[in-house]
Amino acid sequence: MKIYAERRQKFSQQLPTNSLVIIPGADEMLRNADTQYPFRQESNFYYLSGFAEPDSILVLRILPKKAEYILFVRPNNPTKEVWTGKRAGIDGARQQYGADTAYLISEFASKLQEWLPKTETIYYPFAVKPEFDRLLLAEANKTIFRDVNGILGEMRLIKSAAEIELMQKATDISAQAHIRGMQTCKPGMMEYKLAAEYEFVFTNGGCAAPAYPPIVAGGANACTLHYVDNNAELRAGELVLVDAGGEYEYYAADITRTYPVNGKFTSEQRAIYEIVLRAQQAVIKALRPGVSCRLPQEISTRVITEGLVDLGILTGTIDELIEKRAYFPFFMHGCSHWLGLDTHDAGVYKMNGQWRELAAGMVLTVEPGIYIRPESGADKRWNNIGVRIEDDVLITADGNKVLTQAVPSEIAEIEAIMA
Ligand code: GLY
Ligand code: MN
Ligand code: MN
Repeated sequence: MKIYAERRQKFSQQLPTNSLVIIPGADEMLRNADTQYPFRQESNFYYLSGFAEPDSILVLRILPKKAEYILFVRPNNPTKEVWTGKRAGIDGARQQYGADTAYLISEFASKLQEWLPKTETIYYPFAVKPEFDRLLLAEANKTIFRDVNGILGEMRLIKSAAEIELMQKATDISAQAHIRGMQTCKPGMMEYKLAAEYEFVFTNGGCAAPAYPPIVAGGANACTLHYVDNNAELRAGELVLVDAGGEYEYYAADITRTYPVNGKFTSEQRAIYEIVLRAQQAVIKALRPGVSCRLPQEISTRVITEGLVDLGILTGTIDELIEKRAYFPFFMHGCSHWLGLDTHDAGVYKMNGQWRELAAGMVLTVEPGIYIRPESGADKRWNNIGVRIEDDVLITADGNKVLTQAVPSEIAEIEAIMA
């Protein structure tokens, strides 16, 4: 629990006296009838508490001489605990989780009223829980509100050695899943069967769940960016794009590989794949502290535009094509995002209107892609080829480390694994 106390201290030190931090935890969500979705604690809440029960609120009161750490929790309930397991309760919140004070969740509104007269600023994430938004706006209309994600986002963006270890574990397990995927994929298999191979490796490796719903997209399905139906048959002669990563101890991996269902790239697939791979390698080579976080987008759009011109899919001069975003129908998503407790992790990309610089301890994805939809106007021999290659990269003091390098991306390596 020391790690969470250190984070709370570092966070509190950056807040003005007489401020109040209110971070609601995640809710249990009904899936259907009496069945819930698997519970997963909200990331800021977990980052500061390590407490993973639903119906909880974390409060920090920044008083003149100290920061008081308060947890609102569910009551102990022997009958319910028979069904759903032990609850920490008020005593556990203090003794096991280090809260200075703990209250029942039902006491929140009255405690809020007690604290508000002494509060000048409230740090609170709006638009996550509408019923809390209403309560706070009604009770605290004279108080200044600030978003918790500002300071917490900056803290979460720079990963500690312990966090990097967990992320390496998440990415190692996920890399193994991709290797198993390549080994087991064959024509006639259903996309969900291939998804199951990944999910087995995630769970078997200790991941609580996939970090996001796996995308297993055969053939034309790869051109639907968030395809998650995963219910079509994989066919010889087509590629399959798999975007899947596990969540280990709350940390996400986010990996995409695209490979031929029958283990051999066609010449068209190879041509498109090589461009995406070149774009990805050029980006990774450039990543180090001090460069702009926009560099991945700039490098990848240039390499992809050049490649599409080489293949005759685009015509014109490179600068002009980039200027008018001619690549966009083929590469219509970002090249990178922060990665951590959330797959699209906390932390801003711009500071004072400028793209920020990368720094040691940041982890970001590098995920260029080319998707050729029939309506794009390209020659039909390219139709329905969709390729994305996504790796997770840690910025280090002198460059970077690819956390996901255990899973191959070179054509020859993929074909060898699948042979
Ligand atoms: N898997 C989600 C993403 O790549 O951003
Ligand atoms: Mn991603
Ligand atoms: Mn992804």
